[in-house]
Amino acid sequence: MHTPLCDLLGCEVPILLAGMGEVSRWELAAAVANAGGYAALGMVREDPDLIAREVAALRKATDRPFAVNLIPAATETGLLDRQIGRCLDLGVTDFSFFWDVMPGVVRRVKSAGCKVLHQVGSMEAARVAEAAGADVLIAQGVEAGGHVHGRVGTFVLLEQVLGAALVPVVATGGIASGAGRAAALAMGAQGIQCGTALLATTESFAHDYHKRDRRRAAGLTAHS
Ligand SMILES: Cc1cc2nc3c(=O)[nH]c(=O)nc-3n(C[C@H](O)[C@H](O)[C@H](O)COP(=O)(O)O)c2cc1C
Repeated sequence: MHTPLCDLLGCEVPILLAGMGEVSRWELAAAVANAGGYAALGMVREDPDLIAREVAALRKATDRPFAVNLIPAATETGLLDRQIGRCLDLGVTDFSFFWDVMPGVVRRVKSAGCKVLHQVGSMEAARVAEAAGADVLIAQGVEAGGHVHGRVGTFVLLEQVLGAALVPVVATGGIASGAGRAAALAMGAQGIQCGTALLATTESFAHDYHKRDRRRAAGLTAHS
């Protein structure tokens, strides 16, 4: 299971927690990180004070590396500036970004010495993100939950991005099992990112109704 991506991110297994807004808070991030995976705190459009509290709580719960997930193109410019400024002040070392690539934002955190994981839904976005300096590309297929930029299946986009990217590529969208992970790695991905699969966990910050709904959809019992 160990891939070079694990060394780059400082995790034991190449399984990433998606930075789901209002879901991937410190409890879930700590659970994933302490289990050997790599977590992102879902902090889209959150107030910098809340980000600071989440980062502090996560650092108390784990000494593993993690990313803060932001969506630059969907965040008011002033708030985004304050979010990033606060993260840098807090010594956050890794960012994961999504939606339209904003090269200036990638360059800002890169020039502060941070790592950037960029989720993309197309080849064009992959090219722009890599050219801006992203260290890792996360190829999001149309199967993904939440906000979806992918327009083709995960494995279709994965193959395209793998054929062009020089940086490690992670597959995401509809991957929720060991078989999906094995398939992605067999194709050349260096890891997978899971969102929905981790949403219905005890540690997730999602509302109980949302968790029950996801469990029903997956055919799971309350104790699975
Ligand atoms: C409830 C929910 C919220 C999400 N919020 C975000 C977010 O704030 N930022 C982000 O980069 N991706 C977000 N995503 C998308 C994930 O990063 C990822 O693409 C998706 O979960 C992968 O598909 P899967 O849910 O089938 O694992 C969200 C996904 C879900 C299910």
